[in-house]
This record gives sequence, C-alpha cells and structure tokens, in this order.
Amino acid sequence: MDSFLVQGLAGRKELSGSVSVEGAKNAALPIMAATLLVEGDVQLTNVPAIADMVSMTRLLEGLGVFVTRKNGDASVRAGDARETVLDAKLAKSLRASVLLVGSVLARHSSVTFSHPGGCVLGTRPVDLFIEGFQALGATFTEEGETYTLTAPSGLSGGEVFFRLMSVTATETFMIAATKAAAPVTLKNCAMEPEVVATAEFLKACGARIEGAGTPTIVVHPAHLSAPKESFRIIADRIEAGSFLILGALAGKDVEITGAEPEHLEAVITSLTSMGVPIEVRAKSMRVSAPPTLKPLHLRTHEYPGFPTDLQAPMTVLLTQSEGESSVWETVFDGRLNYIAELERMGADIQVWNPHKAVIKGKTALKARDIDGPDIRAGLAFLLAAAIAEGESRIGNAHLIDRGYERIDEKLGSLGLSVKRVSA
Ligand code: EPU
Repeated sequence: MDSFLVQGLAGRKELSGSVSVEGAKNAALPIMAATLLVEGDVQLTNVPAIADMVSMTRLLEGLGVFVTRKNGDASVRAGDARETVLDAKLAKSLRASVLLVGSVLARHSSVTFSHPGGCVLGTRPVDLFIEGFQALGATFTEEGETYTLTAPSGLSGGEVFFRLMSVTATETFMIAATKAAAPVTLKNCAMEPEVVATAEFLKACGARIEGAGTPTIVVHPAHLSAPKESFRIIADRIEAGSFLILGALAGKDVEITGAEPEHLEAVITSLTSMGVPIEVRAKSMRVSAPPTLKPLHLRTHEYPGFPTDLQAPMTVLLTQSEGESSVWETVFDGRLNYIAELERMGADIQVWNPHKAVIKGKTALKARDIDGPDIRAGLAFLLAAAIAEGESRIGNAHLIDRGYERIDEKLGSLGLSVKRVSA
C-alpha cells in the first residue's frame, strides 16, 4: 500500500501557482448509477480519474453494463443488462454502491445487495432506503447482511418523506422514481449541488423532475434515452475547498481553476471571516495565507451549510488560528476520529463528545507517520503535513486516491514536496 512523504514548510507561506479542479466524485457516482435506466450510449465528460469511479465502473460491469473510460470521458451503455445482484465485495468498499439499489430495482423489479461499506464515519444505516422503497410498494427481506427488495409490478407512485436529509437517498429515489407507475413526491430532500446535477442529467435524458435543489422534488414517469450531446460533470466543490484551505494555510498566491465558487459560499464566507483573502471570479479563485488567522466556531450542515466533507481539513486550519475555535459535526457521528493524530502532531484539541471539539491555537505542528482513516481525513493529514516541521509519512494513500485525482502531482505543482512511495 502506498504512502505520501511530505516535506513540511514549517510555517513558511510560499505555495504558489495554479491548480485545477476535477469533476465532482459525488456527482459522477449518482450519474453513473442513473445510466442503468437510460437507453443508448451515454457520453460523460469531466469524469474524475479516482478509485471510486473504478469501483462504480466495476459494479456497473457486474450488472451487465458496458463502460469505457478514457482520460476524462466515459461512455456507458446499459444495453440489455440483466443482473439484479450487486457485487458484495465491491459494495463493501463503496457506500455509494447504494445508489445502484434504486436503478436496479426500478429496471428489474428486484435487487439484492449487501450492507454497503465505505468510509467509516460512524453508523451509516440504509433504513431511509428500505422505508422509502416500501412506501413505493416494494417488499423487503433480509438474510444476515444481504438485503432484497422486490416490486413485481414495478414501483408505485406516491410520497416519500425522508426523516433525515440524505444526499444519496435523495438521488437514489429521484433516479428510481423516473420509472415509477405514477408521479413520486420526495420531501425533506437534500439540496446539494450534486443532487441538482443528477437531476440535470436525468432531465437531459428526458426525465420530468421539478424542485431539485429545494426540499420537495416531484418526479414524473418518463422514458430515458441518452442525450445527443455529452453531459459534463460539475466541478468538485470539496476538492476546490480543500485547495482553498491549503492556500489559507501556506499560500503565497494560489489560483484554483475549473471551480464553481457559487457552490462554496459557506466555505468562502467561513474563510473570509477568519481573515483569509480570497478573490472570487466566475470559475476560479485566488487565495493566500494571511499573517494571522482569526478563530471560528464551525458547524457542519447540509447544503448550503458548511460541508462535513471539509470539516477535517478546516480543523487543521483552526489549529493555526489565534485563540479558541470549535467544531460541531452535525452530519455524522464518527467524523472526529482523526483528531488524536493531529494532537500527536502538536495540535491542542479537546474532543468533548463524538460531535464536538474545541481547538486552541496557534500551535506549531511537527511531522509524524500517520495513516488517514478516510478520504477527507487523509487529505486533512496531507495539509497538516504541508505546514509541519519535518518530513511526514501519510499512509493509506489508497483512501485519498478514492476521492482526489493525482493529488501528489497537484500539490507538487504548487511547490509542495510530496512523494508517493510503496508501503
Ligand atoms: N442516514 C441514515 N439512514 C440512511 C441514510 C443516511 O440514518 O438510510 C444518515 C447518515 O448516517 C448521516 C445522515 O443521514 O448521519 C446524512 O448522510 P447522507 O445519507 O447524506 O450521506 P451519504 O449520502 O451516504 C453523501 C456523500 C458523502 C458526504 C455526505 C454528506 C456521496 C457518494 N457521498 O453521503 O461524501 O459526506 O453525503 O454530505 O455523495 C465523501 O465524499 O468523502 C463522502 C463521505
């Protein structure tokens, strides 16, 4: 397994240059899952070359779908795909495999799947999916951790109220509902840009969807066929936000291109209120590290609030602000699990409970050998290593590779010394 060796800048603010943002992982995954319901060859562009896309491609291939990928392009043809069982091993490595549950059920009236794995962010149940499909007439059975949903005469129309706002549940039901017998109303929906992008893709295929990006979405039954033009995946706001935070930590003059700043309002506002100078343009941003950073009380929230996926990188930044900051993680119950390692690097952080931590700054960080527990905490460790004194080894590179394309090259292009090594 690979690691990254990072030569820390020991507080020097000297990163400069331009770094580009890839297509959004969390938009590409649901859009790939939706292709199972689309007739013809779907052409996608700006598809990120990340490990999670390889897993999604293999899952689709296991279902009988033809996928070809070259550079940032993907071509997907569901053809006469017949398989109704999701590969258990792949599903264990990718929580987003659950996105396929709706597509397979809607296409074949039956789906068998294992409890999805993926990042360990606390308990990640699938109850919203089960309850929602039951509300649309499906029958649920389970054998251990293997679940089956069947709807022999197809999904009915009706209403699904999500007790919690869930990004992938909203996307899964929006996709599946295009094949229901009558209109489906989804309530308390997630409003993330990736939900809107998935709706835009479905609409480009002929779907009739109202309200994506608001709490209530109505989906009317429709035949889906491949759009004539290729469909472009939106920019990854989490990757862009990660580079903004890096620039705030160690940037002399960092430009982030190919971004969608309008999806980053909570992040830009938070950084600005800490004193970080950011110049926002239509599709790019410029950022540099201020002489001092003000503390911040950060609360993660569903979109348009501050994204939980940038909570760990932001915590690294808060270790560098003068005074007391806090982090309140409201989305997941196991997403502060990386903090002990930051403390080992010299950060002064008290974890009050699985949701709340108090950070006292500013503290110098020292290089360490550490393994990231998930994609985003792994990226946060790269940022911590970037500003630390000495050379750090950040293990579990394969987890960072799940969500970030060529991260070592990209950080290198800004002047950071990052080397990928085996073991
Ligand atoms: N939840 C339930 N029951 C369910 C589904 C979700 O209780 O059936 C809970 C979750 O446990 C969590 C909350 O609902 O406490 C919200 O989770 P959500 O379902 O929105 O998360 P997700 O859809 O599984 C997506 C992203 C995550 C991102 C979250 C929150 C994708 C593929 N994944 O996950 O991204 O953190 O939304 O914004 O879109 C990442 O990219 O590293 C990542 C983890």
